[in-house]
Amino acid sequence: MRKCVLVSGGAGFIGSHVTVELIEAGYDVIVADNLSNCDMTCFEGVKKITGKDDIPFFKMDFCDPVATELLFTTHQIDAVIHFSGFKAVGESVAEPLKYYRNNLESFINVIESARCHGCENILFSSSATVYGIPEKLPVTEETPRQSATSPYGNTKQMCEDILRDSVKAYPEIKGIALRYFNPIGAHPSALIGELPNGIPNNLVPFITQTAIGRRECLSVFGDDYPTPDGTCQRDFIDIVDLAKAHVFAVRRMLDGKMKKEYEIYNIGTGKPLSVMELIVGFEKANNLKLNYKFAPRREGDVPAIWADPTLANKELGWKAERKTEDTLAAAWAWEKHLAEDSRSSRE
Ligand code: WQD
Repeated sequence: MRKCVLVSGGAGFIGSHVTVELIEAGYDVIVADNLSNCDMTCFEGVKKITGKDDIPFFKMDFCDPVATELLFTTHQIDAVIHFSGFKAVGESVAEPLKYYRNNLESFINVIESARCHGCENILFSSSATVYGIPEKLPVTEETPRQSATSPYGNTKQMCEDILRDSVKAYPEIKGIALRYFNPIGAHPSALIGELPNGIPNNLVPFITQTAIGRRECLSVFGDDYPTPDGTCQRDFIDIVDLAKAHVFAVRRMLDGKMKKEYEIYNIGTGKPLSVMELIVGFEKANNLKLNYKFAPRREGDVPAIWADPTLANKELGWKAERKTEDTLAAAWAWEKHLAEDSRSSRE
């Protein structure tokens, strides 16, 4: 029988790419989102890519326990992937209670309803942010977590702990936390991608918006880090590769292949790339010149972090495959698609 996966926050950047990969892998998918940080653009894109016009969509908030309960009562859900949550580091410092309330409450409600309604499998979207400034690189899943530098980072750690403690206490459920490094790019169809609200915080949307002329100049935050070229190093992971990791993780859970009731995996390429290398890569992949300048360091930035993805490679059978140039070409194609879309809606 076909298995059904609920994707909470499924209309967002990562959720929409995961929905595509799950459908293409043969799963039934239910998407739920309160649309607080996105619109229906990506969900419409998912329908076009998959050719499926009838993907169930619920506009709902997982902070509402009654609505959450209703969803699990009225549907047979085999696994849930939880993305719903706020994710802006700076905003979380300014409005910590908003972050704690939203990110923790929604996850608690999801776990509670899942376990009460026979949904055994819970996958949480965590982040490399839990490693803070690591003492040794690359980081493995055994690398100790550092205390979080923002309420956002803290909610990731707390949600991991909530899942770990819940699966230990309630034998009817099991959990996987995927720790993402830096997801970038867009679907090769250019029908779904990142849609930041206002001025982008993240590097790649800022690059593509500069290239298209929406921003005048990209600031490279810091050129005096103890790295080969002085700019920060990250593990930039293609969004489609990252989305596929969820399919492998869900399959492992549904097939009863987990070795413990709670597993953690790093989802990265294992290869560091500096901010400057990424900029040069973007210029080469798309045959253009980017307007950028060096600027002071951004507060809170980790000088360098990248994954040791060996565990995910071995246990999940997943590996990052896309070439960086293809990822950066896809990011650019998506930005151009958005520009064409807004032009045609003005006409
Ligand atoms: C990458 C590098 C910047 C913008 C954050 C979150 C993390 C995860 C992904 C999700 C840094 C530099 C950036 C710019 C720049 N979360 N940069 N100019 O900070 O590694 O990770 O996003 O929701 O939890 O912390 O990603 O893309 O912001 O920055 O020079 O305009 O690019 O300084 O070195 P980061 P990022």
